[in-house]
Amino acid sequence: MRVPSGSVDRANLVACLQRQARGCGLLGSPFYETVLGHLIGDVVADGPTWDVLQQYSGEPFDAAVALRFLGAVHRLVLDGRAPALARHYPSVGGDGDPDAAWANLRALLLSHGAALAAYLERPPQTNEVARTAALVGGFLTLARERALPLRLLEIGASAGLHLRFDRYRYDAGDLAFGDPASPVHFVGLWDGTPPFDATCTVAFRAGCDVDPVDPTTEEGRLTLTSYVWPDQKERLADLGGALEVAARVPANIARAAAPEWLGQNLAQPMTGVATVVFHSIVWQYLSAADRERVRRTIEEAGIRATAGAPLAWLRFEPSADRACAEVRLRSWPGGEDRLLARAGYHGRPVQWLAA
Ligand SMILES: C[S@@+](CC[C@H](N)C(=O)[O-])C[C@H]1O[C@@H](n2cnc3c(N)ncnc32)[C@H](O)[C@@H]1O
Repeated sequence: MRVPSGSVDRANLVACLQRQARGCGLLGSPFYETVLGHLIGDVVADGPTWDVLQQYSGEPFDAAVALRFLGAVHRLVLDGRAPALARHYPSVGGDGDPDAAWANLRALLLSHGAALAAYLERPPQTNEVARTAALVGGFLTLARERALPLRLLEIGASAGLHLRFDRYRYDAGDLAFGDPASPVHFVGLWDGTPPFDATCTVAFRAGCDVDPVDPTTEEGRLTLTSYVWPDQKERLADLGGALEVAARVPANIARAAAPEWLGQNLAQPMTGVATVVFHSIVWQYLSAADRERVRRTIEEAGIRATAGAPLAWLRFEPSADRACAEVRLRSWPGGEDRLLARAGYHGRPVQWLAA
């Protein structure tokens, strides 16, 4: 649970909401951009938005107060507690009119302020399915080079939707990989083609997260959906399909911090599989000390790796200039690090760089 800083700072809150509004506009959510405009006006006018958000008003932008609030409202829309507002939310078949939504949202703030406040305490929890469209090339590169089934170990796994990557379909026109009948279908996202003709078997899927979400429960499904922006139909469809897959393909996600969990899972090399530690948009959430422990644990396990028990470290993390995400693969024996791809933060599109 997050403890708000307690300082009251209306100007800071307005600046954070404005910055988030710009971000939503740039990242393809005009609905949230306009809704945020109404929220800003209401904060300035001392309306119910200010009553609910006041205690978080001193929080920095990175605390994601705006996204926590929007997720909380979306949550009430999804679970049926805000039927009037739902008429305007595209995620539940509404008309997508953010101006018409505002009167209903204001009424919801007055009637359900306490329920919204409860969800505000939780950091946003998304599990971005389309990042697999970038990661898949790394898994397939490794499967081809090591010619062994993969043992997947994901840190910061959230609901573990990336651990089911082989159960989704990736279609680059000339080549495709994955289950043709999958409800998750990525088409034509790649500039350059990942090795979709490689043979790849997943032997083992496991992950850890300090705050995991169980995608097989209604509560978990609602949580994940609430943080997807309601007018982003592609992301909602990806998530809906991945939740269907998660219901039939098990993956164990431990409630654990990355350094300890990796230490246990990499204590001994495992023969007959290629072990791949991977993560996406997690590095920035680890403390400097934990990053160092994770790096050391992986590198020490790399020294123990053999051709029969190889190890790899696959990452989908921001580029140095933060302009995009990069997919990098380091693999032992050998230990060389390669830049495989660049991609959008949510996965789309992917520029495949490796030969
Ligand atoms: C931005 S989310 C990314 C989730 C997922 N990897 C994805 O790409 O959709 C970051 C995740 O890292 C988790 N996390 C943060 N600190 C962690 C730690 N020390 N150990 C394990 N997981 C952590 C969070 O709970 C959250 O699920």
